Amino acid sequence: MSHRHLVDVALGDRSYPIHIGPGLAGEVGTLLQEHLASGKVLVIADEHVAQLHGRRVVDALVESSLKVHLETFPRGETSKTLEQAERLWRACAEHRIDRSDTVIALGGGVTGDLAGYVAACWMRGVRLVQMPTTLLAMVDSSVGGKTGVNSAAGKNLIGAFKQPTCVIIDTELVATMDDREYRAGLAEVLKYGVIKDAGFFAWQEAHAAELAARDPDAVARAVAVSCRIKADYVSEDEFEQGARAQLNYGHTFGHALERETGYREYLHGEAVGIGMRMATRLSRDLGLLPDDGLAQRQDALLAAYHLPIVHRAADPAAVARRLAGHCRLDKKVAAGRTRFILPLRLGEVALHDSPEEDAVIAAFASAIIGG
Ligand code: GLY
Repeated sequence: MSHRHLVDVALGDRSYPIHIGPGLAGEVGTLLQEHLASGKVLVIADEHVAQLHGRRVVDALVESSLKVHLETFPRGETSKTLEQAERLWRACAEHRIDRSDTVIALGGGVTGDLAGYVAACWMRGVRLVQMPTTLLAMVDSSVGGKTGVNSAAGKNLIGAFKQPTCVIIDTELVATMDDREYRAGLAEVLKYGVIKDAGFFAWQEAHAAELAARDPDAVARAVAVSCRIKADYVSEDEFEQGARAQLNYGHTFGHALERETGYREYLHGEAVGIGMRMATRLSRDLGLLPDDGLAQRQDALLAAYHLPIVHRAADPAAVARRLAGHCRLDKKVAAGRTRFILPLRLGEVALHDSPEEDAVIAAFASAIIGG
């Protein structure tokens, strides 16, 4: 039997399905039928993904009698710009994409954000379908409607909430990811267990080897549970006024680490993995998390996923202080607050505002070693 899952994002008349399972890229035309209002779609993908999966997706759409245009852009975060968006809007004009047509974002997080933003703005909004091709995009960025581009002002500061009309996740596509990128996606899967679902965390502990080896059933199940948890957050708090911020567990520390290392040393998920360890330490030091084994279990699962669990630096104390400084800088864009999502026990986290700087420095220092 094929292992397919269907998750609903409940948002009233903007609710949408997430189809999850192996081989769905070949069925995209059929799956989309009820979500399209015209016979024309624009597929946006980076050059690498277009080469890997473009033909199959375009063929499946054409088989369903759709008129398909494919637009590509250079691979990488450096393409998440207004310049690329502008180029894609010109392509929308060339292909006469109108309000009845649909943009399909085929790719990882960069593509989902860029193509999603293009769809959000073109003619003040055209239909968007997310087709993630990386584990990170499957379990996080393709669901929930965050889109945007980077600018001189900072990462992701220009953007829009644009919910898709459908998300199609072909879990087989993780087979073409490189090892490091795949494992970085597992950090976000682990995150869902800690923030919301102790049973899911225990399931991951029992199936870590299968997940690390990309066993198709284990991957499909992990993606489905992750999407279900994310969908619940999005339904409850679409615009991140409250609970949705819990999805940022490990991210304040992780972002500081990414910034400190010039976005070159770590993939996002790797930095978040180390960040989750730091958040756990801060929670312990603030007396919010009892010594209940969560820290050890989280470390063990990160290791089972072959993720880095410490940051190496020549002068750990100085780096810890600098990292805490990066969090202070973040305050400027977070209305004067440094917000940390801290675990209270396995399956439950809470937002903590502006803890003492010394405690933050100690938390950073706990996962930095000399060398
Ligand atoms: N990536 C976190 C969110 O979508 O809210």
